[in-house]
Amino acid sequence: MAAPLSRNKAPARLSSSPLLWIIALASLTVFFLYKVDNLALQTKTVAGHNLPPTPWHLFPPKNFDDQSRHARAYQILHCSYLTCPYSNTTVSKGHGFNSPSSSPKCPRFFMFIHHDLEPWAQSRITVDHIMGAKNYASFRVVIYKGRLYLDPYYACVQSRMMFTIWGFLQLLKRYPGMVPDVDIMFDCMDKPSINKTEHDSFPLPLFRYCTTKDHFDIPFPDWSFWGWPEVNIRPWDEEFRDIKRGAQARSWPKKWPRAYWKGNPDVGSPTRTSLLECNHTKKWGAQIMRQDWEEEAKGGYVSSKLSHQCDYRYKIYAEGFAWSVSLKYIISCGSLALIISPQYEDFFSRGLIPEKNYWPVSSDGLCQSIKFAVDWGNTNPTEAQKIGKAGQDLMESLSMDRVYDYMFHLISEYSKLQDFKPVPPSSALEVCVDSLTCFADEKQKRFFERATAFPSPSPPCTLQPANSDFIKSWMQQKQRTITNVREMELKA
Ligand SMILES: *[C@@H]1O[C@H](CO)[C@@H](O)[C@H](O)[C@H]1NC(C)=O
Ligand SMILES: *[C@@H]1O[C@H](CO)[C@@H](O)[C@H](O)[C@H]1NC(C)=O
Ligand SMILES: *[C@@H]1O[C@H](CO)[C@@H](O)[C@H](O)[C@H]1NC(C)=O
Repeated sequence: MAAPLSRNKAPARLSSSPLLWIIALASLTVFFLYKVDNLALQTKTVAGHNLPPTPWHLFPPKNFDDQSRHARAYQILHCSYLTCPYSNTTVSKGHGFNSPSSSPKCPRFFMFIHHDLEPWAQSRITVDHIMGAKNYASFRVVIYKGRLYLDPYYACVQSRMMFTIWGFLQLLKRYPGMVPDVDIMFDCMDKPSINKTEHDSFPLPLFRYCTTKDHFDIPFPDWSFWGWPEVNIRPWDEEFRDIKRGAQARSWPKKWPRAYWKGNPDVGSPTRTSLLECNHTKKWGAQIMRQDWEEEAKGGYVSSKLSHQCDYRYKIYAEGFAWSVSLKYIISCGSLALIISPQYEDFFSRGLIPEKNYWPVSSDGLCQSIKFAVDWGNTNPTEAQKIGKAGQDLMESLSMDRVYDYMFHLISEYSKLQDFKPVPPSSALEVCVDSLTCFADEKQKRFFERATAFPSPSPPCTLQPANSDFIKSWMQQKQRTITNVREMELKA
């Protein structure tokens, strides 16, 4: 039989065949590429790769089809795993501030930080709280020893996640070595979800961009402070400067004596829908314009420029699907801001005081209410102008420096409540400036560059201690003023 021969000789012949070597090498390569591809397909990224949209707010999933599958896999692996370990994020401990150690007091509305964290003052924040909040979060941010770790669960609309994380990273740069270790669950979608009635027995700490008086959600500055490239809104400091300059193009008497609104009415907001009814300058003193973002994009955003929208004595603010990022731009004009009974609060809108820096407009009898405000302002131009100016001053005091201070104090106060030592979960990956830039397209990169923070020469503003009586009387006073205006209106 020939069997012994083939048994003994075959292996020798096989191993010396170059063809078989090539086949072996090729299959190894294929296997390796398969593994790499698999890893790329499983890596969830800050840009939204491999992430489904949030189930509580569906939107069309992102498509990354402008890249080949191979280029995409390479980018995911390169940016996610090979960037931060080699990036230069030297964490300097301590801080040599140039200015004297006593820093100015923070704006008064910063006291709402204590109010927002009040639900955990007794119970403190435990790992169970974090795990409970996870069910409502689109991502988790852990800051550990000055570095940021991100565990994404769901995709966020557009580039929200990237710009929000960029904001966190700039905070770390602005106050190096000062931001404490924290473990934060964050939802990037619009509507608050931790209903106070339903979560009364065990409030869950969840960060997002807005809250309401009926929710436990903790408001945090939204992405647009660093920019919103999809609608060409630039970083906040830049945008404010231009709006203020644009507003000076017409003196108060030369501004149109009517109320102006321009935006997207099709966002599922009842207020915006009823606002369309008030579009009559003679009858209601209001001009309501539809913003068509697709048309704007084609026209290079010339007519949507926020600095060109301050030629009116009155500017209307109407909430969208939830809070709207437009609030800060509207108030920045220095026109009298007519705010239609808002349900949502963002972190700074608590600084708004009726008759002091804005005019409250009611959502029932909306057109009449706008008309009343316009008539009042045209009869009392000095007062109207003064309130408008106070609104602009409020926005001017909210520079990016102050935004970082708010983030710093909120995170610091939150961290004091944690009854555990935060550590990055094994599923999280480090995100650093270089890895975000690595994922960014050209436009996003330009925005990031312009929204870069540098180490602060002075310490953060001084946060006033908690004072729940003060907050309570602040809110009651606000309600009284709104009721007074409403009564004036009904008598008119
Ligand atoms: C990291 O940055 C610091 C300060 O910018 C610089 O002095 C240092 O040389 C950098 N290190 C590397 C490895 O690039
Ligand atoms: C909160 O939940 C309660 C009970 O389910 C409900 O009646 C209420 O409308 C909810 N509140 C908000 C603001 O959604
Ligand atoms: C409001 O009226 C003006 C002037 O009549 C018109 O140009 C504009 O398109 C109207 N706005 C809406 C949203 O229909």
